Amino acid sequence: MTRIFSGIKPTGHLTLGNYLGAVRRWVEVDQHGAEALFSVVDLHALTVEHDPGRVRRLSRQAATLLLAAGLDPERCTLFVQSHVDEHARLSYLLECTATDGELRRMIQYKEKSVLARAAGEGVRLSLLTYPVLMAADILAYGADEVPVGEDQTQHVELTRDLAVRFNQRYGHTFTVPRATAPKVAARVMDLQDPTSKMGKSHANGAGIVYLLDDAETVRRKIMRAVTDSGRDVEYDREARPGVANLLDLMAAATDGNPEELAGVYQSYGALKKDTADAVVELLRPLRERHAELAADQGHVDQVLRDGAERARGVARPLVDRAYRAIGLLPPG
Ligand code: TYM
Repeated sequence: MTRIFSGIKPTGHLTLGNYLGAVRRWVEVDQHGAEALFSVVDLHALTVEHDPGRVRRLSRQAATLLLAAGLDPERCTLFVQSHVDEHARLSYLLECTATDGELRRMIQYKEKSVLARAAGEGVRLSLLTYPVLMAADILAYGADEVPVGEDQTQHVELTRDLAVRFNQRYGHTFTVPRATAPKVAARVMDLQDPTSKMGKSHANGAGIVYLLDDAETVRRKIMRAVTDSGRDVEYDREARPGVANLLDLMAAATDGNPEELAGVYQSYGALKKDTADAVVELLRPLRERHAELAADQGHVDQVLRDGAERARGVARPLVDRAYRAIGLLPPG
């Protein structure tokens, strides 16, 4: 059976980009009978400046939202990364497999380290080793597939390289995973700056649709989305990134095709209005379900406890095997 692993980090409120790029497909694979594990990867949230209380709140909120989005804890495993020690244990072995050169080449490291320096903060060592911990997340479960948005494909490529290298040096230990991206909306762009990704921790929230935004806020943000000065509705991500982004959102929300949709609209205004309506309808059930679940945190905590136990059961034998393969003496 195909095994699937993916994660989301609690560094901000979840966005429409997270949902369309990743989370929506997690719900689908879970329903299609694959063996799936999903994690709120809180250790990754410590790689940049953070407030401890906020990380805790956002971790719980992310788990609640994943359940609200439709993850069924009877059919998949949902857990918090720091509850399962195997991630950190395996990460160290993979640090002994990776080189600093390949980590310094990671786009996300380059971007985030520039931001940290500009803010006068030191660049944490964990920001450099971030992709190694991510590789450990994936390899600890022997995952075949990793459903992620486009921004994470480079990290999954590194994960593959590390798995292959480890297997070659120490004998076959890890499954070599592959990233899977959605057909549309693999990279949802910021509505105010359509040349950059819609990200949780972006400074200006006006261009970000959060999953918990109310209907009016979602509508306002989409109606005020930056487009270019042309008038024709064309799907051209290079020349017309703002309009292309709206077409992607509309296509993703209605199961359509962005190029075909471009032929349907005569004006940006009409496209914005329909996109706003479609996104509001897409998110409505999620918001409603979130309100119910948020009132029962005991249930969410129980799901996370059970999930961590199941996850440990899968990861521990695999990570133990890697410890032996690399040359560590098993405890007697
Ligand atoms: P994170 O928390 O930034 O994002 C979670 C998922 O959402 C996708 N995503 C997007 N997709 C399309 N458009 C966007 N604007 C957009 N923004 C985010 C991301 O690609 C991701 O799939 N490093 C990961 C977390 C992680 C992980 C893992 C993922 C840690 N360990 C192991 C998979 C497997 C991250 O920062 O995701």
